[in-house]
Amino acid sequence: MDIFADGTAAPETEPAGELPEVEAARTLPLAELHLHIEGTLQPELIFELAERNGLALPYSGLEELRALYEFSDLQSFLDLYYANMAVLQTEQDFADMTRAYLARAAAAGVRHAEIMMDPQAHLSRGVSLETCVNGVASALATSVEDFGMSTLLIAAFLRDLSEESALEVLDGLLAINAPIAAVGLDSAEVGNPPAKFERLFAKAREAGLRLTAHAGEEGPASYIIEALDVLGVERIDHGIRCMEDQDLVERLVDERIPLTVCPLSNVRLRAVDTLADHPLPAMLAAGLNVSVNSDDPAYFGGYVDDNFAQLQAVFELSEFDRSRLAANSIHSSFASEERKAELLDELNGG
Ligand code: ADE
Ligand code: ZN
Repeated sequence: MDIFADGTAAPETEPAGELPEVEAARTLPLAELHLHIEGTLQPELIFELAERNGLALPYSGLEELRALYEFSDLQSFLDLYYANMAVLQTEQDFADMTRAYLARAAAAGVRHAEIMMDPQAHLSRGVSLETCVNGVASALATSVEDFGMSTLLIAAFLRDLSEESALEVLDGLLAINAPIAAVGLDSAEVGNPPAKFERLFAKAREAGLRLTAHAGEEGPASYIIEALDVLGVERIDHGIRCMEDQDLVERLVDERIPLTVCPLSNVRLRAVDTLADHPLPAMLAAGLNVSVNSDDPAYFGGYVDDNFAQLQAVFELSEFDRSRLAANSIHSSFASEERKAELLDELNGG
């Protein structure tokens, strides 16, 4: 199927009487735009790194750890996510975690990945900016030759901490010339509106960085508006609660604002009751610029291919929709126009 430059696709008609497709859907080349590298820390790697670093974990084994992966909301997940980061101590630990993600994502069809990391969550444990940034960046530096995947790094700031803390860390990142392409905003959303970080985002923009922020995951649709109007972000991470504000939906469609949606995350963090209740099909039908992403795949039951497979099982997405989601991910990335053209060509079978 041909995908045009604006992300729309040439219409196709089903021959009458054709049986529904039963073979596995082709793995589409796509961009993953919403991925927290610390959320790729698999239970096995948590134990391996704990042993390597001589740390005692508060779990007797994999089974006891996995039993904790039942979340009631975002905060209940964040508590475990931050606790498990204790095993990340050295550059090698960060590099190993990142390479494990790249290998798995490549198998899922990811051809370009924009990877968030949470520097403040490491600094607060006494791990330096250089250790966490250099560790992740060293694995990303060879992602093209090792996995055929272009990558870039996003420094995400914790919105439940102060703006002063975020400004200090951004200064630190700029001072060490950290190879970051963008800044993001994550962690506990409700009660921490985007406007709290106006100066941070202004400074990041001045430094030439691209801008994205989590909004409308658990927080209200008004946080999406604030992220756009006060922070000036180009992209919204999650954004599913835009569906509660029809005027906002129309604006997002008109301005083609990318929404990096994470269906399995939304189910596991109880933003929606079940995958069948997920607004993704309605978002597609409304003409929103949505992509499918994995958020924290080690915690939420799957990587981007698993997200697609489960969506497919519940909603029977058409090839048109799957291709549109892949094309949206490429168009919405912070990759160069040349790289986007390459990926779109690949998607179109070129
Ligand atoms: N940090 C890691 N995953 C997150 C999510 N889904 N929402 C907010 N902050 C996060
Ligand atoms: Zn996220």
